[in-house]
Amino acid sequence: MILPIHYQETYVIRQEVLRKGKPIETCYFTGDTEKSTAHFGFFHEEKLIGVISVFNSPSTLFQEKSQIQIRGMAVLDKFQQNGIGNQLLLHAENYCKQQKVEIIWFNAREKAVQFYKKNAYKILGDAFEIPEVGMHFVMYKQVMEY
Ligand SMILES: CC(C)(COP(=O)(O)OP(=O)(O)OC[C@H]1O[C@@H](n2cnc3c(N)ncnc32)[C@H](O)[C@@H]1OP(=O)(O)O)[C@@H](O)C(=O)NCCC(=O)NCCS
Repeated sequence: MILPIHYQETYVIRQEVLRKGKPIETCYFTGDTEKSTAHFGFFHEEKLIGVISVFNSPSTLFQEKSQIQIRGMAVLDKFQQNGIGNQLLLHAENYCKQQKVEIIWFNAREKAVQFYKKNAYKILGDAFEIPEVGMHFVMYKQVMEY
């Protein structure tokens, strides 16, 4: 079951999956507390096991006026490869469509690129390094045209 969650709930999952062994402060993202930011959680037997957040954060790489950046996409290791990531991503996409968002973009970890490609996201440009996190690609999908 996917539900809206408070930003503070995302931290424990982000830490365990995306910032292993690093302080909780590394899981605080700029914009987490903004009203325009939405956080969603996947619950299994009432336990939070996956998260995704969408930020009203336009990139100069895209022309579209209405853009959303996905950040903090994470499913606990032992629940991965069960379709939960797909469901979270689809939920975020549907939310974006309701908000009349034109384009979804994000910085994808190298390891997650295939997952996003399966969900019809495209790579823009070359790989780049995010310090302390690793190689990333900008990926995007046009969700609506006006
Ligand atoms: C990336 C992640 C969110 C995907 O969630 P998930 O629940 O494991 O993904 P799903 O089970 O929904 O997978 C959907 C499809 O993508 C594929 N897939 C998932 N992760 C993959 C990977 N790392 N490499 C290649 N394919 C992958 C699955 O095999 C599945 O394919 P299928 O539909 O042909 O069976 C999750 O693995 C994760 O949290 N990884 C670590 C953190 C991370 O990298 N987050 C993304 C940051 S940009």
